[in-house]
Amino acid sequence: MKNNLTIALSKGRIFKETMPLLEAAGITALDDPETSRKLILDTNHPNVKLVIIRATDVPVYVQYGAADLGVTGKDVLMEHGGEGLYEMLDLKIACCKLMTAGFADRPLPEGQLKVATKFVNCTRNYFAEQGRQIEIIKLYGSMELAPIVGLADIIVDVVDTGNTLKANGLIPLEHMADISSRIVVNSASMKTKHEKLQTLLDQLKKAVEAK
Ligand code: ATP
Ligand code: PRP
Repeated sequence: MKNNLTIALSKGRIFKETMPLLEAAGITALDDPETSRKLILDTNHPNVKLVIIRATDVPVYVQYGAADLGVTGKDVLMEHGGEGLYEMLDLKIACCKLMTAGFADRPLPEGQLKVATKFVNCTRNYFAEQGRQIEIIKLYGSMELAPIVGLADIIVDVVDTGNTLKANGLIPLEHMADISSRIVVNSASMKTKHEKLQTLLDQLKKAVEAK
């Protein structure tokens, strides 16, 4: 329905850091996804619902219009490719860097480099631009382990404090991109629900600027 808005969010840091901004825009969640098993959360607005999904699924829900808008990391967005959605606003939350990382004292092989990552597309594009030959080893998490056990020479992952790398004896090597979370909007919703979406986007922009 034209009056309804569905917002896709992931649990954890994106939910925690987005809710204060949504609250400044007048939207409060009636449940906490950390304690509730509900996947659709009501808000104080009968026409606004939150769907709680995996971080990597947010662009997919928005692309297909299962959610009108969502909050997703730029890393996830770059990996998805952005088809069917518009990136409308940088919320300047969940800030980190997409980086390569490896051992400080281990020279990289001359030929093909083995790179472990969950960011397969970002990694392929980055090394292709540099004309470097790589083999990508797709993992779903705990990438830091891969060089330690000899599965890969380096990893591509997000880095914030650097504590996870340090705790595993690795160092950041090359900076690939600055990452923060973005509001993405379904391209059809942007037309059919323009007024409602634009009002919300304006309020969120003010909330980001006020922070
Ligand atoms: P999934 O559950 O689908 O595997 P995820 O575990 O990456 O996703 P989160 O850890 O909640 O999900 O991360 C959400 C987003 O927050 C990431 O896409 C990234 O943009 C950002 N992020 C990830 N790790 C950090 C970090 N340590 N510090 C700051 N921001 C981060
Ligand atoms: C992310 C990322 C790194 C870590 C980097 O993991 O995959 O492991 O944060 O942050 P740091 O530089 O501050 O140590 P996250 O905490 O999201 O856990 P996850 O493995 O569940 O995604």
